[in-house]
Amino acid sequence: MKVIITENYNEMSKAAADLIAEEMNKKPNMVLGLATGSTPVGTYENLIKYNKENKVDFSQITTFNLDEYCGLNKENEQSYWYFMHDNLFNHVNINHNNINMLDGTNPDAEKECTSYDEKIEKAGGIDLQVLGMGHNGHIAFNEPCDYYSKGAHKVELQESTINANKRFFEDISQVPRASYTMGIGNIMHAKKVVMLVSGAEKAETVAKAFNGAIVPQVPASVLQLHNDFVLIMDKDAASKFSK
Ligand code: GLP
Repeated sequence: MKVIITENYNEMSKAAADLIAEEMNKKPNMVLGLATGSTPVGTYENLIKYNKENKVDFSQITTFNLDEYCGLNKENEQSYWYFMHDNLFNHVNINHNNINMLDGTNPDAEKECTSYDEKIEKAGGIDLQVLGMGHNGHIAFNEPCDYYSKGAHKVELQESTINANKRFFEDISQVPRASYTMGIGNIMHAKKVVMLVSGAEKAETVAKAFNGAIVPQVPASVLQLHNDFVLIMDKDAASKFSK
């Protein structure tokens, strides 16, 4: 595990974008796993800038997003489909046929998730997976529980996640109670994983996840077992972490 601690959010975002750009330049047709949430927004802004400056090219890149809320369609501004288009895809030269996201409106969870796993496999697996981390240590929408899940699946969101994500919705009743998500297995099979964490309110969880035991009750802790894992965080997020 490689740890990079930056002064603030902007530096974290630049460090992450530089790492992603370097990997994209090494392998222009790479399979890139992407995350939503407020944390990667600055990273995506930098990537958009690099794309406009011709420093990075999305034309041959294939993407797979981590997760999607159940029941929200593409037009819904709170859907991850909308978020990704608004914050990245609509501003770079990506081939939109190469964008893959779970479809939260498909009522057949089994079918949707199995076909997502198959698509990832057919694409040759994920080369680089970008991750954020929830306040309770969740990655994608893999909530704390008693086991690690393998492939994509449906999850019921925990109260703390619903509360943390309500800021994006008009009121808490509108936050979906379930989502489709990649499993821990999908994430761990990525050749390289980069996680971004920002802010003092996640410092405790960072210490638990990366100084503590590897347990599914703190889902992010499993990344300690990944052999090419880079953790980039600002100094507030790192304030309780010991290197
Ligand atoms: C959501 C997403 C996660 C993300 C997390 C943290 O639950 N499913 O992929 O990492 O939020 O979000 P934020 O970066 O806004 O704290």
